[in-house]
Amino acid sequence: MKLSPSELPINLEEFELLAAQNLDKQSYDYFRGGANDEVTLRANVAAFQKIQLLPNVLVDVSKRDQSVTVLGEKLTMPILIAPTAFHRLASPEGEIATAKAASKAGTIMVFSSLSTTSPEDVAAATDASLWFQLYIYRDRELTRDIIQRAESLGYKALCITVDAPLLGRREKDVRNQFSLPPDLTIATVGDQLAKDMAAAAGNSSLNVYFENLLDQSITWEDIDWIRSICHLPIVLKGIHRADDSKRAVDHGADAIIVSNHGARQLDTVPATIDMLPPIAEAVDNKIEVLMDGGIRRGTDVIKALSLGARAVLLGRPILWGLAFNGADGVMLVLDLLKKEVDLSMALCGIPTLSKVKNDLVI
Ligand SMILES: Cc1cc2nc3c(=O)[nH]c(=O)nc-3n(C[C@H](O)[C@H](O)[C@H](O)COP(=O)(O)O)c2cc1C
Repeated sequence: MKLSPSELPINLEEFELLAAQNLDKQSYDYFRGGANDEVTLRANVAAFQKIQLLPNVLVDVSKRDQSVTVLGEKLTMPILIAPTAFHRLASPEGEIATAKAASKAGTIMVFSSLSTTSPEDVAAATDASLWFQLYIYRDRELTRDIIQRAESLGYKALCITVDAPLLGRREKDVRNQFSLPPDLTIATVGDQLAKDMAAAAGNSSLNVYFENLLDQSITWEDIDWIRSICHLPIVLKGIHRADDSKRAVDHGADAIIVSNHGARQLDTVPATIDMLPPIAEAVDNKIEVLMDGGIRRGTDVIKALSLGARAVLLGRPILWGLAFNGADGVMLVLDLLKKEVDLSMALCGIPTLSKVKNDLVI
C-alpha cells in the first residue's frame, strides 16, 4: 500500500483506524474485543493515562540507549511482540510477515499456539528470535510433542499461558459466530484435528479448541512436569497476583508476564499496570518480570519499566500494523513506538534504561 507521508499514521491509535478499513467486521471485532462489558479493556489503556511522569532536568541525554537484555538476549528496544492468534486473518503472509518485522526490528516474536502458520514454516522463513506460546493440552503426549517441536526448531523460550482454562466470553464474537474461514486452520495441531475442530457444528472453532483440547485441570504440578521435560527457559504468562508470582519463582519459571490477556479473559480484573508494582516487589529481581496490556505510547513503556517491568509486549497494535500493510506495517508500528520511547527518555532525563527508577512516576 502506497501512502504519502502526510497520510501515514502518526500514532498507534491511527493504525487501528486504517486497519479497520482492511479487515472484515468479524476479524476486526475478534482482534479488538475484550471480555464481557470490556471494563478491563478500557482500564488497561486508561490506567496508563492516569499515571504522571516526573522528569529530571539538566541531565545529559545527547546519547540515548534503549537496548535491553531479556532472558540473556539483547534487544534493540524494551518491546516484544505478544502472542496473538490468527495473523492470516490480517494479512495473507500472516505470522511470517510478523516474524520478518520482529527480525528487522531486532526484537522477539512470541509465536501463538493459535497461529495460522505452522511453527516449522515461521522458523524456516525468517531468522527471527522466536518464543513459543503454549497452552497445555489434555493429551500430555501432544503437549510433550509440541514442546519438543519448539525445541528442535530453535524456539528460544516456552511461554505458557496460564490464565485461560476456558476461553473468556467476547460478546462480539458470540454475536458474529466467529470462526476461521475454511482456508485457514490452527496450524500448530495436526491437519485432521484442525479440520474436525473447524467442522464442529454450532460453535466457533476457537471454543471447540479450548473446550475439547485444553486441560482445565492444570495446576502448579503441571508446571513442574513441563519444567522436568523442557530444556528451554520457561515464561509464565497471565500472572495477576503477588502470591502467584512467588509460586512462579518457586516452580522454576525463568520469567513471568504480568498480563490479563489483553482483557479478553476475566472482565473487571485490574489494569495490568496496576497489578505490576506488588508483583515486581514480591519477585524481588529473582526472575525477570515482563508485562503487557494497554501499551499504546512510548510514555507507557517508560511507566511500565519504572514500575518494575524489564520489558513490555505489544498485542493489538501489531495486528493493526499487519492488517494495514503486512510486515512493513508491523515495522512501522515498532519503529514509531521505539521513536516515542526515545523521545520520552530524552524528556525524562534518562539516557539509558538502567536509569529508570520508580520515582519517575507519581
Ligand atoms: C486478537 C488477540 C489474540 C490473542 N491471542 C493470544 C494467544 O493465542 N495466546 C496468548 O497467550 N495470548 C493471546 N492474546 C493476548 C496477548 O498475548 C496480549 O496479552 C494482549 O494482547 C496484550 O494487550 P494489548 O492488546 O492491549 O497490547 C491475544 C490478544 C488478542 C488481542
